[in-house]
Amino acid sequence: MTLLFAMRNVPEIGLALRCAVVRASIAVARADRRKRVVVETDVEGIEQEVSTGSLPGWDRVEDLVGAAHARYRDVDDGVVADYIPVLATVDPGLYGVCVAESGGAVHGAGDTEVEFSVQSISKAFVYALVCEEFGHQDVLERVGVNNTGLPFNSVIAVELNDGHPMNPMVNAGALATTALMPGASFGEQWENVRGGLSAFAGRQLELDDEVYRSESATNMRNKAIARLLQSYGRIEVDPLEVVDVYTRQCALRVSAHDLAVMGATLADGGVNPVTGERVVSGQVCRDTLAVLAATGMYERSGEWLFEIGLPAKSGVAGGIVAVAPGKGAIGTFSPPLDPAGNSVRGQRATAYLSRTLGLNVFASAPRVAEHPARMPEGTESR
Ligand code: DON
Repeated sequence: MTLLFAMRNVPEIGLALRCAVVRASIAVARADRRKRVVVETDVEGIEQEVSTGSLPGWDRVEDLVGAAHARYRDVDDGVVADYIPVLATVDPGLYGVCVAESGGAVHGAGDTEVEFSVQSISKAFVYALVCEEFGHQDVLERVGVNNTGLPFNSVIAVELNDGHPMNPMVNAGALATTALMPGASFGEQWENVRGGLSAFAGRQLELDDEVYRSESATNMRNKAIARLLQSYGRIEVDPLEVVDVYTRQCALRVSAHDLAVMGATLADGGVNPVTGERVVSGQVCRDTLAVLAATGMYERSGEWLFEIGLPAKSGVAGGIVAVAPGKGAIGTFSPPLDPAGNSVRGQRATAYLSRTLGLNVFASAPRVAEHPARMPEGTESR
């Protein structure tokens, strides 16, 4: 021990020792990695194309969407959600991948038109509608924009933050957000939610009555969260009615195609690129995507951003939407989930397309090297 201590004080040996300790701890972490839940992507060897102003040409996008579907079709990891009983009855083999460009083109492979309940993905779009109504500052103060670092249905997160929901993408923040939807009655609020999400999708979305009833009969936890928010004065209206509107919004039926178009509307400054309808403002899109980047994949948001580099939102029925601002969006559907509640095939397909389509918002390459002529005369490259 004394010898080790003495060795540490010799600068070179001390550094070597520290490096050895770091290496050993990295080796332990590597060995341990399989046991932990991380964002699993399976894109080793797939080149990261850099993020540029536009997507590749039509044929290339078609090919890559087809490849993203084929590459992960036979992955059979993950478990279908069953805490909402009816979700457990879905076919786990369903799998669809879709890309909608901000120019309006849509590319799909697999089960892109099969409908499923939107679940938590609705939170992103209801948040955008509420931001459109109340503006940046009020919504920021009321529901917050920070990751709680805790699971989506955490009660303790509310307690730890003195009743502030903190994060509009977890259930507490989503309930506080839904409570702000415009409407003179809960019925009107619900119709405004449905109408707003339909405008994002570019078609009338319908309620899945079976999912709505199944979740209504089992959502004691959400009712408890709503009551807790009420006790802190964060919901001024009837909390159980708020839960009802929220449960309906989660039970809206969408397809992977719809998710791609809904995401592409956020990528396109708030104009649906297929219908041409303005749904929300450009500022609301920017705010919503910032919140998705920070919190859309719950306590996995940092890992998701690190691996995939796109604002995204998942739902327990197996949908994921990921948005590349200015370019378009990816919508995927595959019901088996990882332990964090994210679709296993969906996150792999999204990672593959983020890489191959050059969507990762953090991926760049030096442009000066390509275009030395753009440097003003006499300027030195840094
Ligand atoms: O409130 C719930 O628990 C569900 N309606 C939605 C949860 C959800 O989608 C979480 N997503 N990954």
